[in-house]
Amino acid sequence: MSIHVKRRRLMAPDIAARKGGEPIVALTAYHAHTAAIADNHCDFLLVGDSLGMVMHGYETTVPVPLELMIMHGQAVVRGSKKALVVVDMPFGTYEESPSVAFRNAAKVMKETDCGAVKLEGGRRMAETIRFLVERGIPVMAHIGLTPQSVNVLGGFKTQGRSVEDWQAIEDDARLVAEAGAFAVVLEAMTAPLAERITDAIPIPTVGIGASPGCDGQILVMEDMLGLSPNVPKFVKKFGAIGAAIDRAIASYAEEVRARTFPAQEHVYNLKSPETEAPVDAVRATKKPKTPTT
Ligand code: KIV
Repeated sequence: MSIHVKRRRLMAPDIAARKGGEPIVALTAYHAHTAAIADNHCDFLLVGDSLGMVMHGYETTVPVPLELMIMHGQAVVRGSKKALVVVDMPFGTYEESPSVAFRNAAKVMKETDCGAVKLEGGRRMAETIRFLVERGIPVMAHIGLTPQSVNVLGGFKTQGRSVEDWQAIEDDARLVAEAGAFAVVLEAMTAPLAERITDAIPIPTVGIGASPGCDGQILVMEDMLGLSPNVPKFVKKFGAIGAAIDRAIASYAEEVRARTFPAQEHVYNLKSPETEAPVDAVRATKKPKTPTT
């Protein structure tokens, strides 16, 4: 008799425990099918607000509404079984006060069943992070380049290029860790700074355009698959899905125009007079016993 032990989904403390250990693997995911594939390989899946740009054609993440994050969060939770699912809090839903942040983060957790939320900001968000964590909401912080602040930063700019800028960013990292964040994303910052932060704080750092010295790495899935048309320097394309989709759609269009698709095996025929069963039973696993014409 074999005993089937169901592997439970990873939780925020499991990720926190990976500090200094085996690198944490993470990707963004926005929908169920890709989440199911990534779930086999990733420790956590981030339903990033980058979905506004990647899926919905916004120029920045600023316009993304909470409802959109919840809808994609639900899809990713449904599609995955093992990875921790982290949902981004979009711009305008948490900055105003800790209690506004709690109300919206609790809504995200209740409606998606995700295991944690992520929010952008260092020292300015420390009080909010503490408030959420003390009330049962695991928080992943996000410092360095914080895309929701694009209008203040004046663009998507690499952080920590001069050593004079480092102290403020190091303080951000220390303060979010002290406030109770279980991990922190370091986005688009110089490698020596990311390494200093990783050495200095007790929670895992997850780099995106940061350094191989971080405790883990995350990329936007569509960027690393080769689907996004324009990607930042820090993205390595591990696939060429955009070109594969283009080829597949070109073949489809060609066959439709040539009337070679749909072929015989793709159409429904009349019922067989002998069996009264559909002759082609397109999706059935059993083949008909008597060959049909
Ligand atoms: O929204 C997002 O995809 C993110 C990653 C860049 C970490 O926050």
